[in-house]
Amino acid sequence: MRSTRWKAASRAAIALAGAGALAASMALFATAPASAGTTLGASAAEKGRYFGTAVAGFKLSDSAYTTILNREFNMVTAENEMKMNATEPQQGQFSYGAADQIVNHARSRGMSVRGHTLAWHSQQPGWMESMSGSALRQAMLNHVTQVATHFRGQVVAWDVVNEAFADGSSGGRRDSNLQRTGNDWIEAAFRAARAADPGAKLCYNDYNTDNWTHAKTQGVYNMVRDFKARGVPIDCVGFQSHFNNESPYVSNYRTTLSSFAALGVDVQITELDIQGASASTYRSVVEDCLAVARCNGITVWGIRDSDSWRASQTPLLFNSNGSKKPAYDAVLAALNNGTTPTDPPTDPPTDPPTDPPTTPPPGPGGCTATVSVNQWTGGFVANVRVTAGSSALSGWTVTIALPSGATVTNAWSANRSGNTGTTNWTNVAYNGQVGAGQSTEYGFQANGTAGSLSPTCSAR
Ligand code: G3I
Repeated sequence: MRSTRWKAASRAAIALAGAGALAASMALFATAPASAGTTLGASAAEKGRYFGTAVAGFKLSDSAYTTILNREFNMVTAENEMKMNATEPQQGQFSYGAADQIVNHARSRGMSVRGHTLAWHSQQPGWMESMSGSALRQAMLNHVTQVATHFRGQVVAWDVVNEAFADGSSGGRRDSNLQRTGNDWIEAAFRAARAADPGAKLCYNDYNTDNWTHAKTQGVYNMVRDFKARGVPIDCVGFQSHFNNESPYVSNYRTTLSSFAALGVDVQITELDIQGASASTYRSVVEDCLAVARCNGITVWGIRDSDSWRASQTPLLFNSNGSKKPAYDAVLAALNNGTTPTDPPTDPPTDPPTDPPTTPPPGPGGCTATVSVNQWTGGFVANVRVTAGSSALSGWTVTIALPSGATVTNAWSANRSGNTGTTNWTNVAYNGQVGAGQSTEYGFQANGTAGSLSPTCSAR
């Protein structure tokens, strides 16, 4: 039920942007918005997704900026204006002017709004930075309640808690004044947000959680699994995805997205930027999101390179003069070529996931396939990674023998023959070309027990 709300929001948003009337929006969506295939937001909406950007309120008077914003995007995140220091500069005195301006700009043009962020160790107002213990806990919960209440009905999702996990190998929480109020501060914030705005999707948002093998990714995964098991109201996980030379895009990103989705949460790419704006990396990110049914939107962290918090890395889709970069064309093409996968699992796994996938070194030529399984009682999701050998692939076939009682119910990013016993999987249009030593991934959901799967791969 909750996942349909995203699609409804993005559909309504793009249709309203084009037609300005709800009745018209229904008719438009049944066919296609006039701009379908020509702008990021319209093309994403065609796939049941949104395409958003961070917006800085003071730039709304820049017509070059708003021309691109209004044309291309159907979701908006306030870059700084909804943060704790902006909305509660003095304790108990709330200030919404700058945020309201962004919300009004967006909603009056049919764009939706992601709220960012209710609770964070950073950008706290001075009065909060010096607080601790139960006084801080109460102040934080009051902030969550007041701000979520103010924007009730105006934001489709909140980053309730931002960046609460530590970098490095611990996989644990980041030390902060909020963390020192007790480990339950995150779930307390989510419960307060749900009570204040029962209609908003509630997300946990973080960076450097893109690589499935990283301890931080696993730490957040374990928290979300625990929250789902205990009924803590979490609906979605945001992956900031600030990619750069120190923290690059990795091919297991799709595994990360699909593994979180298999816990029963939506996933979103919330602050995307890529150092140098490689067109192929942008394309991969979009393809990864489209391959995961519960990945319901992508937000880039700014419009033009000059708008970026990392402007010198030229990481965005538009040049500083507002012209489209090759990365823009790659993103638009990926949105227009993408397929909508069948639905992923809705039941959260109850068993721990298997270890992150490891890829054995491929032999010369040909390809290898490895599989990671999330098993729960009565079913499982398998993510299969196909790795090219010393030559590039122009197509591949993977064969997997399923144990007795296992039946495939749906799949994504591969064509399938057979759903029991010996199953054969071939690439779809967009993932058949795999460079030498490079990888691509597909996945499937099945009833029954996976046991030990031994996929084999052959090049075509
Ligand atoms: O508005 C003041 C201005 O009056 C003053 O003259 C100037 C002097 O430095 O500062 C201006 O405020 C800056 C603000 O951006 C607006 O430009 C702050 O100093 C600066 O700290 C702030 O940086 C923001 C940063 O979050 C703070 O942590 C970035 O714009 C914003 O893009 C960035 O966004 C974060 C996400 O919220 C969370 N994930 C990471 C992401 C990138 O850091």
